[in-house]
Amino acid sequence: MVTLFTAGCRQDMHDQPKFIPQRGTTFFADGRSARPQVENTVARGQLHEDSYFYTGMVNGQEGNMMPFAATAEVLARGQERYNIYCTPCHSRVGNGAGMIVQRGYAQAGNFHTARLQAAPLGHFFNVMTNGYGAMPDYSAQLTPADRWAVVAYIKALQLSQSATQADVPSGQHTESLADIAAREGLDEPKYLEWSVPPTANAGTPDGQPFVLPSNATGSKPATPAPAATPAASATGATAKP
Ligand code: HEC
Repeated sequence: MVTLFTAGCRQDMHDQPKFIPQRGTTFFADGRSARPQVENTVARGQLHEDSYFYTGMVNGQEGNMMPFAATAEVLARGQERYNIYCTPCHSRVGNGAGMIVQRGYAQAGNFHTARLQAAPLGHFFNVMTNGYGAMPDYSAQLTPADRWAVVAYIKALQLSQSATQADVPSGQHTESLADIAAREGLDEPKYLEWSVPPTANAGTPDGQPFVLPSNATGSKPATPAPAATPAASATGATAKP
């Protein structure tokens, strides 16, 4: 008796009217079982009232402020996220000569150029949110708050490479890389070298020419371009001053 009762119950559940995800229906005129959001309504958790926080834009222009304070905690978070997601291409110092670039990926942006030094904060947020040229977007990997934390850290990176005595508290002093290298007994030119090796953009570690998929028909030099002129390599598509 009990067995019969439970079996009947299971069958009811099985046959009940329901929509299976992504499956069509004849019930609605447009044939979709998943219904579009009702016009002029906002779902819970989707009210993005602070549009600057989510876009970095003010009236269609990239803004130049943080949507929240850049505390030491925010900078630490930004450094951690930057080191995970950005260093493979941009390197830990942000010069655009990361390991993937050294292995042949398009030259990544150098944050220490005058143009990017002067770029508004919203630009960095925008690049991470929407991608830029050969760079994919990082909106899936980084929440908006994390993207802003990375923006703050990039500003710190930029400052770290161009700080003057006026930027540091009294009692502290700035030091050039050359002085640090000398003090540590390091081979100076090696540590000051910021150029991308010959494999970048122009070749592969085994000396074969590398062709970007998007530029597969473009002419490529048979031999890797010299390290000093990575921007002049024949990919032409990505190098920015
Ligand atoms: C897979 C490699 C790769 C990764 C990872 C990467 N980028 Fe880039 N990035 C590039 C390349 C390549 C360019 C140059 C794109 C171009 O000029 O077409 C670039 C350019 C940029 C620029 C300069 C845009 C300009 O105005 O010239 C910024 C800023 C930037 N990236 C930020 C970031 C940040 C922040 C991250 C980490 C969240 C990141 N990138 C991760 C490859 C990468």
